[in-house]
Amino acid sequence: MRTVRTVAELRAALKQPRREERSIGLVPTMGFLHDGHLSLIRQARAEHDEVVVSLFVNPTQFNEASDLAAYPRDERRDAALAAEAGADLLFAPPVEEVYPTGFATEVRVGGPLTESLEGVQRGAGHFHGVTTVVTKLLNMVQPDTAYFGQKDAQQALVIRRLVRDLDLPVRIEVLPTVREPDGLALSSRNVRLQGEDRRRALALSRALQAAESDLAAGVRDAAELTAGLADVFSAFDVEPEYIALVDPETLAPVATVDQETLLAVAAKVGEVRLIDNTILNSNGNGRA
Ligand code: PAJ
Repeated sequence: MRTVRTVAELRAALKQPRREERSIGLVPTMGFLHDGHLSLIRQARAEHDEVVVSLFVNPTQFNEASDLAAYPRDERRDAALAAEAGADLLFAPPVEEVYPTGFATEVRVGGPLTESLEGVQRGAGHFHGVTTVVTKLLNMVQPDTAYFGQKDAQQALVIRRLVRDLDLPVRIEVLPTVREPDGLALSSRNVRLQGEDRRRALALSRALQAAESDLAAGVRDAAELTAGLADVFSAFDVEPEYIALVDPETLAPVATVDQETLLAVAAKVGEVRLIDNTILNSNGNGRA
């Protein structure tokens, strides 16, 4: 695996594969790779001739300077893990390569997809930062497929909408959330969970599990389900930022779970902000 830092080097490295019509898969990441990221890289490896992993902690999607400053980084470790999972090229540009002096363009998905849930908590600007950098990465790499995780369900929806609305010539693949054995969704931020907070962080995945069993027991009313989940959060001494039962395509709130519904939760545990979600089916079978 080679590491490249400029768009020019990246394009040069992809010139020959493109001429030979070798297919290209892209896995965009902010690094500090874990098994969730690696599952995306392995899938890209299985489906494509060339696998590009981007590693860029995108400043424009951070709504808090302290979160950006505290974001964990370890490029050497990331490079070893990406190579082992099958990446051919690691694209790790410095900030000024992505946002040169005078940078003045933004790509926005408007409406409820970016204004609800995470858009309320972090501001829609978070998603504008994501869509701007993802558009740039797609233009830089021009992959056949780009891979994203269901862990960030709203982000995946926003990116699908971006690609559809702008006719970007790429297939978007969204893969299931990878979890710790006890259910905690893997996240680069988990390393910042101190002491007792690691156990308290289970509030999120346990709430999702509780919703699945409540649903299996016949509870369909969104308000009733939400109240049950709030109890799970308080049992872990965690204050939820939101517990949302929404349409999995539009993110519009649902009153009754009588078809596939996205259950999304967010909470700050200690200093660390965590999100998780699952798709609920009205037949009571959850799919994490
Ligand atoms: P990052 O948080 O590094 O995540 C990179 C990709 O890994 C995202 O598509 C995310 O959904 C996926 N991912 C994270 N945790 C996962 C888990 N436990 N299981 C499966 N997939 C998981 O998301 C971003 O970076 C950025 O917003 C980015 C898209 C790179 C744009 O800057």
